[in-house]
Amino acid sequence: MGVVRIGILTGGGDCPGLNAVIRAIVRKGVGVYGHSFVGFRDGWRGVLEDDAVELDLPSVRGILHRGGTILGSSGTDPRRADGGVDRIVRTLQTHGIDGLIVIGGEGTLGAGAEIAERGVPIVGVPKTIDNDLPGTDITVGFHTAVQVATDAVDRLHSTAESHDRVMVVEVMGRHSGWIALYAAVAGGADMLLIPEHPFDIEEVCRHLRHRHMATSSFSIVVVAEGAMPVPGTMEEPRYELDENGFPRLGGISYLVAPEIEKRTGYGCRVTVLGHVQRGGSPVAFDRVLGTRFGLAAVDLATAGGWGRMVSRRGQDVRDVPLTEALGPRKDVPLDLYREAEVFFG
Ligand code: F6P
Repeated sequence: MGVVRIGILTGGGDCPGLNAVIRAIVRKGVGVYGHSFVGFRDGWRGVLEDDAVELDLPSVRGILHRGGTILGSSGTDPRRADGGVDRIVRTLQTHGIDGLIVIGGEGTLGAGAEIAERGVPIVGVPKTIDNDLPGTDITVGFHTAVQVATDAVDRLHSTAESHDRVMVVEVMGRHSGWIALYAAVAGGADMLLIPEHPFDIEEVCRHLRHRHMATSSFSIVVVAEGAMPVPGTMEEPRYELDENGFPRLGGISYLVAPEIEKRTGYGCRVTVLGHVQRGGSPVAFDRVLGTRFGLAAVDLATAGGWGRMVSRRGQDVRDVPLTEALGPRKDVPLDLYREAEVFFG
């Protein structure tokens, strides 16, 4: 394919490494292929409302190490907008755009996959700190979130040990416990609660009692925000809906900690890490992954590989049908959970 004009958007929750993707697309696209680029602001909103900015080489200089996204992001779902696909096609025509590179997670790429099936040329790039997107081993942003959570677990050991406390640390992970699992294993946590395995609070307390009687006077419990108790075993969390109609998670540990304190008598404290896990500079892994994904995405678009998503399999960057983003969520497999379980209590 000859020279093309490509639109770029970043949608859904921001994460470290998005700017590395944008930079690599533009650097290779302009420098090697002679393409031109248009950035759309705030995800699909920018395409629907034609809120666009020209992306040239100077506009992507100095952004590799910066968190967030220079294009802004939103959870706008074009499938819910009146005449969404027609408006997208109109915006692309206005700018003479041949296709879009869509950098997103479940919602943004899910919309992209459906819109691509209706004839809009789209290449996908997978990102989410949650790492739960199907079709790729790893998503951009995950390793930075894991590092932030691991650092927090390390730091919480000080107070846990000094005060003989149980420190409950809540990390992100809406449907899947990838961040929690990695941070628990890397940080040497004593208990792990993830959405894939509803927890029995009495079982949790049994492990903690065993540890406190046998070896230690403090514990660290890592809880993914989406973790849920076995129904009927303790109070279940209730969440309000956010502006896009999804439950606004966060706070399960405020139910877990008092239960542990009540049942064991050990003093408990809660730390909810929240958006700090998505902020700041990407770790080296996310800069490299974002760069490799960006290079592969622009290669794919140049080759006319629309309707596909770049993906990491082992050490390789490949591509898969974009519809894989619509597949069953990539949960933490049982054998990885079993490995972490060895260190419980
Ligand atoms: O999907 C990524 C994620 O960070 C989830 O772990 C979390 O539940 C959600 O985004 C929070 O989104 P928001 O920024 O809308 O609060």
